[in-house]
Amino acid sequence: MTKDGDKSTGKAVPTELTVGQVAERSGISVSAVHFYERKGLIKAWRTGGNQRRYSRDVLRRLAVIRIAQRVGVPLRTIHETLTSLPTNRTPTANDWGKMSRRWRSELDDRITRLTKLRDELTSCIGCGCLSLDSCPLYNPGDKCAEQGSGPQLLDPDL
Ligand code: FES
Repeated sequence: MTKDGDKSTGKAVPTELTVGQVAERSGISVSAVHFYERKGLIKAWRTGGNQRRYSRDVLRRLAVIRIAQRVGVPLRTIHETLTSLPTNRTPTANDWGKMSRRWRSELDDRITRLTKLRDELTSCIGCGCLSLDSCPLYNPGDKCAEQGSGPQLLDPDL
């Protein structure tokens, strides 16, 4: 296994990582590493002995994924963003700057929407009518009528 020096610690860092090393270095569980791989967010290859190996760049990808999840970016959006990078590469500092600005804007929108929902919920407290005609949460702007019969989503991101 080839190793290069880590500039910040001076310790040798493997260029190929096992799933256990990825989990340890990224601070997430092995099952989470497998989950992200199944979702196509990270990639591994197999050794002759059929063991997974990851490029150490996966650590940066995982950092981006975890941060994005912490601010509520859906996995499908993270996937779209990562796969839109040239040759599907690991995000550079510049890429991360663009992503974080875009996700900041989406987070602002989500906060605005949730604040509105919270305020509308306040009017529902103690009411219990669940009226299609007058409950702002159950049928905001009478959107249910446009979307057909059956329960409709209160939040399009869920
Ligand atoms: S439950 Fe009555 S207004 Fe929402």
